[in-house]
Amino acid sequence: MAVTFVLTNQKGGVGKTTTTAALAAGLAAAGKRVLAIDLDPQGNLGFSLGLDIDTDQSSTIYEVLRNRVSIREALHRTEVCDVIPSNILLSQAEIELQTDNRVTLLKESLKEVAADYDFIVIDTPPSLNILTMNAYAASDYLIIPMAAEILSLVGLIQLQETVEGVKSSVNPRLRVLGILLTKYNRRTRLAADVLEMASTVAEQTNTALFDAKIRAGVAAAEAPAHGENIFAYAPASNPAKDYECFVGEVLERIKD
Ligand SMILES: Nc1ncnc2c1ncn2[C@@H]1O[C@H](COP(=O)(O)OP(=O)(O)O)[C@@H](O)[C@H]1O
Ligand SMILES: [Mg+2]
Repeated sequence: MAVTFVLTNQKGGVGKTTTTAALAAGLAAAGKRVLAIDLDPQGNLGFSLGLDIDTDQSSTIYEVLRNRVSIREALHRTEVCDVIPSNILLSQAEIELQTDNRVTLLKESLKEVAADYDFIVIDTPPSLNILTMNAYAASDYLIIPMAAEILSLVGLIQLQETVEGVKSSVNPRLRVLGILLTKYNRRTRLAADVLEMASTVAEQTNTALFDAKIRAGVAAAEAPAHGENIFAYAPASNPAKDYECFVGEVLERIKD
C-alpha cells in the first residue's frame, strides 16, 4: 500500500509545487513506484514532471473527482513517474464539491490504485479549501514547505488547528512529517531569524524542521519553464543537492 504525502501551506510561492516535483522525482530515482497528483487548479505540477502540454484534457483530477473517469483512466506516464494532472477546470470542482462537503472523494478514488505504488505525492492549492481537505483526508503525512521569509510563518498555527480538526473527523492517522525551509540563504540575517522562528513553530505544532534546507537558486526557478524537475534540469545545483538530502530525510522519518 502506498504511503501518501501532501505538500501544503496556504501561502502561495513557498515551494509546494517545486518540492512536490522534487520529491516525486527523488523517490522515483530511488527506484520507488510513484504517483504524483496535482490538486491545484493552476496545474503546474504536470509540466514540472515532464507532462506533454497538449496532454488529454479530458482526463485530469477534475474528471476523477466528478466521477467522469476512473482514476486509472486519468493516469499519465512521464519519464519521471505517473501523474494525474489538473487544469483550471478544477476551480469549478472547488465550488461543486463544497456544496455537499465531499472530503473523501480523493481517498475513495486512490484506493483503486494504492497497491500499485510505493508513494503518492499530492500538490495542493494555496488555500484551505475542499480540495486541500480532500488531500488531507487521503494522506498519511503532511509536509509543509515554508519560504524563508518571516511572513510565511503566518498561517502555520491555523494550519495546525485544521490538522487537529481533520484528525478528529475524517483522518485520525494524519501526521505532520515536518517543515521544510525553501529559498533559503544562510548568509542573510533574515534566514537566521526565520530559522529560529520556524524551529519554535515546529516545536509548538509537534513537528520538526527538516535538517535539509533548500537554498535559493536560479535553477529551481528555471526548471519548470523547461518542463523539468530540479534533478533533471540542474543536478549539480544547490537546490538539487538540498532536495536530495530532503528526500533521504523523508525516507528516514517515515521509518519510525
Ligand atoms: N529554492 C528555490 N530557489 C529559487 N526559486 C525557487 C526555489 N523554490 C521555488 N522557487 C520558485 O519560486 C516560485 C514559487 O515556487 P512554487 O513551487 O511554485 O511555490 P507554490 O507551489 O508554493 O506556489 C516559482 O517560480 C519557483 O520556480
Ligand atoms: Mg504551486
